[in-house]
Amino acid sequence: MQAATYDLEARHPGWPTRLGPIRVPAGAVALRPIRLRDAGDWSRIRLRDQNHLERWEPTAPGPWRDRNSYWSWPPQWFALRGLARRGQCLPFVITVDEQYAGQITIGNVIRASLRSAWVGYWVSSTVVAGGVATAAVALVVDHAFGPGGLHRIEATVRPENEPSIRVLTKAGFRQEGLFQRYLDVAGDWRDHLCFATTAEETGPGLVARLIAAGRAEYV
Ligand SMILES: CC(C)(COP(=O)(O)OP(=O)(O)OC[C@H]1O[C@@H](n2cnc3c(N)ncnc32)[C@H](O)[C@@H]1OP(=O)(O)O)[C@@H](O)C(=O)NCCC(=O)NCCS
Repeated sequence: MQAATYDLEARHPGWPTRLGPIRVPAGAVALRPIRLRDAGDWSRIRLRDQNHLERWEPTAPGPWRDRNSYWSWPPQWFALRGLARRGQCLPFVITVDEQYAGQITIGNVIRASLRSAWVGYWVSSTVVAGGVATAAVALVVDHAFGPGGLHRIEATVRPENEPSIRVLTKAGFRQEGLFQRYLDVAGDWRDHLCFATTAEETGPGLVARLIAAGRAEYV
């Protein structure tokens, strides 16, 4: 991948934008920028899905119901919007058939000669095992390596998180190693497997690969 393939002067290449839709068994998956008015959907789903989400997410102060109340969204939205405007993250909502279904974020964007970032995601318990997260990862990684101008995307996942490991494997990420006692998740320092992919490895793109594998269709 050549430096000349994107504008090195752009402060936030690839943002804001909408991606998809592509169709998977759960429905038509698309990505759009987070909005202030997502507060209701974000809070309702996350309060209901505490058991589904909490054990995989970084430890944070205060009870789940407070951290995921309607009024917890505006400061998070504001912080993420600021990072996105500075080109440091790409924070998307995942929609399924145009309904709010989760979030996927390209975070810690480092440019210069690294051009690297991580990807993180969660989806509503009502759509799990329908290909939603895999489709979202494919859409966002193709975008990050194209208009986003990045070269490497990393994902860290607890060895116990079999669905998430499956998502990354289906999307074509490679396992690189084990980070020991890496991240404070659900109240303790947890080992994490490191997965990654680079622009050279994705060939025609992760979406094209999912479609060729019969896991998704263009809408
Ligand atoms: C991990 C998560 C994002 C997956 O979302 P999803 O939309 O269900 O993902 P997909 O449907 O694309 O793929 C999930 C795969 O895991 C499989 N799976 C589901 N439960 C599983 C289990 N207990 N063990 C092994 N595989 C499992 C599914 O069958 C599917 O694989 P398949 O397509 O080969 O059948 C979702 O479960 C989630 O939000 N979890 C909580 C938050 C989280 O873990 N985030 C990631 C942190 S690294």
